[in-house]
Amino acid sequence: MYHKILDKVGQLNTPCYCYDLRLLRSTLNAINHEIEGFPFVVHYAVKANANPVILKEIKQAGLGVDLVSGNEIKTAVAAGFGPELMAFAGVGKSDWEIEAGLESGIYCFNVESEQELEVINDIAAQRGMTAGVALRVNPDIDAHTHRYITTGTAANKFGIDLPMLDRVLDRAMEMSNIHLRGLHFHIGSQIMSIQPFELLCNRINSLLQHYEDKGIIFEMIDAGGGLGVDYEHPEENKIAGFHEFFDVFKRCLNVRAGQKVHFELGRSIVAQCGVLLSRVLFVKESSVKHFVILDAGMTDLLRPALYGSHHKIVNLTSRESELVTYDVVGPICESSDVFAHDEQLPVTQRGDLVAILSAGAYGESMASTYNMRSLPQSVFFE
Ligand code: LLP
Repeated sequence: MYHKILDKVGQLNTPCYCYDLRLLRSTLNAINHEIEGFPFVVHYAVKANANPVILKEIKQAGLGVDLVSGNEIKTAVAAGFGPELMAFAGVGKSDWEIEAGLESGIYCFNVESEQELEVINDIAAQRGMTAGVALRVNPDIDAHTHRYITTGTAANKFGIDLPMLDRVLDRAMEMSNIHLRGLHFHIGSQIMSIQPFELLCNRINSLLQHYEDKGIIFEMIDAGGGLGVDYEHPEENKIAGFHEFFDVFKRCLNVRAGQKVHFELGRSIVAQCGVLLSRVLFVKESSVKHFVILDAGMTDLLRPALYGSHHKIVNLTSRESELVTYDVVGPICESSDVFAHDEQLPVTQRGDLVAILSAGAYGESMASTYNMRSLPQSVFFE
């Protein structure tokens, strides 16, 4: 995509997000290829990137959506997703968001506490409606990822603790305006090994058996998302390890007849198709460092500042072969506004164009207007 960006560069205002729609389509095809013939339903986690052009591609590929706010519900409806493919998750849903979910007729609320279940039942009863529900279980599995994006251990705020599940499930079964569809799990994000997913399957299997012994068979299981992407070698590994990921569930999960397994993938669908394009404003030196100062900052891509995560950086315009070690930083008045420490780049000058790779997920969607900056624009390449 780089040469296409450079062809169009006169028309681009930086910083901006550039998306490779061909790569997005290949990624979606890879997913559809893996799930074909299996009772699997893939929802796209809209929080990763809610850009309408991206959503249109995802809808065309036939995926559903995983939503976490009333505004995401509205966005998904506007993008044409059908309610039967919508799940609404989140540990704190406001009443108006629950109403928005009911009005849209969404397939499933992923419910995280007994109190939330009661509130949904009440709001549904007031409207003479029934809410489809999956109980989000905290499976107490450590996904060995960044502490800010691990979700499935008992110390996290997410899900219903295993020892309390029986009680909440009994309550759900007796509520007149709740239709219990199944159980929901999500153990974390940017998970690079399959072992946590194997542990998750084992946990799900024992829960399915436990409830089957009580005469309960769920219509669905939602295994969440979390498949990681290669931030260090994005050009070599453009498409995430969907084969290995789905293979775990094909091998390890004891799916009952007629039961569907849902997934909620965000990052692995959109991360690699997006780069953040930025222009070098200044190059400066201190007694110990060389700095490249970009016009993009943590307001455009928060991940490095928030999680200390590293995205590969490419200078698209330098013709130099000599490499220099730079700290690549943004213009925001925060010391954490650093994209990379000690990054090796060819000799870089004011005016050079730089691409920060693997920025399609949790990039544009986490952008802010801090320092009264403008939100980054987006452009698309076929
Ligand atoms: N399902 C649930 C319930 C989730 O909380 C999430 C992500 C997903 C699915 C999608 O997970 P994925 O497939 O994208 O890993 N901003 C962070 C990531 C936060 C993830 C939040 N939940 C980052 O930039 O790394």
